Amino acid sequence: MGKRLGVNIDHVATLRQARRGREPEPAAAAAVAELAGADGITVHLREDRRHIQDRDLEVLKAIVATRVNLEMAATEEMTRIACGLRPHSATLVPEKREEITTEGGLDVLGRRESLLRTVARLKEAGILVSLFIDPELAQVRAARQVGADAIEIHTGSYCEAFRSGKYLAELDKIRAAATYASSLKMHVFAGHGLDVRNIVPVLAIGEIEEFNIGHSIVARAVFLGFAAAVKELADLIHGA
Ligand code: PXP
Repeated sequence: MGKRLGVNIDHVATLRQARRGREPEPAAAAAVAELAGADGITVHLREDRRHIQDRDLEVLKAIVATRVNLEMAATEEMTRIACGLRPHSATLVPEKREEITTEGGLDVLGRRESLLRTVARLKEAGILVSLFIDPELAQVRAARQVGADAIEIHTGSYCEAFRSGKYLAELDKIRAAATYASSLKMHVFAGHGLDVRNIVPVLAIGEIEEFNIGHSIVARAVFLGFAAAVKELADLIHGA
């Protein structure tokens, strides 16, 4: 089975919220992304609603032809919203109000009790549950123990290392986590900080089924156009 590209459109909403206006419309970005080869649309409804709004979720659920992946903190409010919306999948992420973006993986090991309940509620609603974790075997094992269907490996440290050219140790960690999760019969996804260059070595890891990419697509879209920015990544990922 081929690898998939999930396009994160949060920063289309960031641009809209800069003026608290109507454009650019995230739903239009979702439609263009799908036309350009995206296999899914990802959005993060943050507690502070700094980019994606509740209304966006309703519109996206109605118009997305592929899959909606909802990134969310494991809170009561978000669990209620997810169970009502029933996206294809939910990705549980850590969330701090003051952070600029998601800074690290979820500490599944330290929160097993509460995550067990959240994962069960989401699964009961028919949602595939993924946990966003750092590439550490103990976190992978804990993700399996709390009943998650999938892990999304946080590629942030790898992407930072890539810039210095010394990234092989970080790449090995991703490969080890992916292999282990796959041996536990979990789906394996990856994301954070990926772009057209640093994704290339990661594409060689066969276990990774899906990549969720946002910032680099929106950044390149400013110069190349949104469809072109999605298409170049979709072509790379589908060709791997
Ligand atoms: N995956 C998860 C779980 C994320 O939280 C994010 C950032 O919102 C991404 C993927 C996409 O990261 P980026 O915007 O750096 O491509």
